Amino acid sequence: MKIKLSYQLLAILLLAGIITGALVLFKPNEKKGTTPSAAPSEVSSTVQNQEIKEIQVIARQWQFEPSEIRVKRGERVRLRIKSVDVTHGFALPAYNINVVLTPGKEETVEFVADKSGEFEFACSVQCGAGHAGMRGKIIIE
Ligand code: CUA
Repeated sequence: MKIKLSYQLLAILLLAGIITGALVLFKPNEKKGTTPSAAPSEVSSTVQNQEIKEIQVIARQWQFEPSEIRVKRGERVRLRIKSVDVTHGFALPAYNINVVLTPGKEETVEFVADKSGEFEFACSVQCGAGHAGMRGKIIIE
């Protein structure tokens, strides 16, 4: 009797599991149920976006504009960098960043400014006579 009961219990549990699984699987399709589950992550990403410090940087022979960037420690920094003439590079070794800047194509780099200090960035692609002097610094305070 006890064995029979536990089998029945097991069967009920299995059935319940299958129904629950089916409900979970079909819910999103039935009434676009993705909205309730997606909403919290959307909110949190909005919050994250507000915290991002976005800075546009122009690269040209042979300078970056701005060449001095100031951010606060702990900020999430997004640099949108574009070359307006030839191919340059943007290297920020302190944050392991190095991207090639194809003329006219904006590149985005992102990092959390978790170290305070002054960090040099420089052009990392040979771009002509002034290449070696094409540099700037990020000041994190
Ligand atoms: Cu710009 Cu090298």
